[in-house]
Amino acid sequence: MKKRIAVLPGDGIGSEVTAQAVKVLKAIGNVFDHQFTFEYGQVGAVAIDATGDPFPKETEQLCKSSDAILFGAIGDPKYDNDPSAKVRPEQGLLRMRGELGLFSNVRPVVSYPILYDQSPLKDHLLHNVDFVVFRELTGGIYFGKPSGRSEDGQQAYDTCLYSKKEITRIAVMAFEAATTRKNKVTMVDKANVLATSRLWRETVKEIGASYPEVELEFMFVDNAAMKMILQPSYFDVILTENLFGDILTDEASVIAGSLGLIPSASLGEKHKLYEPVHGSYPQVAGKDIANPTAAILSAAMMMEMSFGAKTESKVIVQAVNEAMSRGFVTQDINKARHFGTTEVGDAIVSLIQSDEMVDFEAETII
Ligand code: IPM
Ligand code: MN
Repeated sequence: MKKRIAVLPGDGIGSEVTAQAVKVLKAIGNVFDHQFTFEYGQVGAVAIDATGDPFPKETEQLCKSSDAILFGAIGDPKYDNDPSAKVRPEQGLLRMRGELGLFSNVRPVVSYPILYDQSPLKDHLLHNVDFVVFRELTGGIYFGKPSGRSEDGQQAYDTCLYSKKEITRIAVMAFEAATTRKNKVTMVDKANVLATSRLWRETVKEIGASYPEVELEFMFVDNAAMKMILQPSYFDVILTENLFGDILTDEASVIAGSLGLIPSASLGEKHKLYEPVHGSYPQVAGKDIANPTAAILSAAMMMEMSFGAKTESKVIVQAVNEAMSRGFVTQDINKARHFGTTEVGDAIVSLIQSDEMVDFEAETII
C-alpha cells in the first residue's frame, strides 16, 4: 500500500522518540513492500517559536491531507513557569484535537512480566493486566465555555459540558472494542455529584442495551482510581470522560512499569493521530535516553487502526517485546544496564528485518 504519514515531533523528547517510530515504519515498509512517505510539521512550543502559533494553519493542512498522523509530545518549561503567557503549547494540542475531531482517545495498558520487578506494586497484582481506556478527548471541562476569571480576578471558572451525541459516539467504540476482548465495559464517572456524569450513565446504558453480550458496570472515579491499583486485572474496557481519563491513564502507566511504554490512538471520523501517552519530558531532551517504546507502539496502533495492517502491527509489537526481553531497554526500565533511545530503536528495527519475526503468535494491540 501507499500512504502519506504526517509526522509532528513537537517538543522535548518528541523528536527523538518519533524518529525511532519513523525508522520502524520504514523497516515495516521495506519488509512488507509498502510505500510510506513522511512529511513533517510543527506543533507546540517549537511552532510558537517559529510562527507565533502552537498549531499553525500549515500543520493543520498537512494533518488533514495525510492518511495518518504520528505525533510526539507538547510542552516546554518556559511556559509552565509563566502563568501569564497568552499563547501556550498545550493550546496547540487541544486545538489539534478539536479541529481534527479526534474525540476518542484509546490507551491500552498491559503489564510486562519481565518488568514486574520495576513496579512499585506487588508482583501478584500485575499478572494478566490487559485493559484499554477509552477517554473522550474533545469535550468536557477541557473545552466547555465559559471558562475564565471574574473581573476582579478573585474567582475563576471552567465549564464541564457534554452532549448525548458526544457520549454516544465514543460509547459505541468502547462497546465494539469490548466485543473483541473480554466483553466488559466499566464506565467511570462521578454520577453521585455531576450532572454530566448522569447524562453519561443514561446514554451509555441505552447504548449497552444493543450489546447484550457485553457486561456493563458503572464505577465512581474515586473508587476506580483505588481499584486500578488494588486489582488492575479486574478491568477490560474503561470508558470515561476527558479529565478522568487523563488522570486515570497516568495512574495506569505505573502498572505497565513506565510511562514510556504506553501508546495511544486519537480517533475521529475523518482523521486519526497516534502518540505516546508520555509528555515532552524536557529534563532528558536531547540526551538520547528517552524510552522510544510508546512512540513505536503508537506506530503499531497506526498500522492496525488506520491501515488495517494487522500483521504489520503484530510484527512491531513482537519486536518490541523481544527487544525488551533481550535487555534492549532504556534507563527508565533498567537503571543498571541500559541502552540509548537510538540503540533501542535499532534493536527493534533489526528484529523486524530478521527472519525470526515470521512465525509468531503476538497479541493484537488493543
Ligand atoms: C495528555 C496530556 C494533555 C492532556 C496535556 C498536555 C494538555 O496530559 O495527552 O494526557 O491533559 O490531555
Ligand atoms: Mn495526561
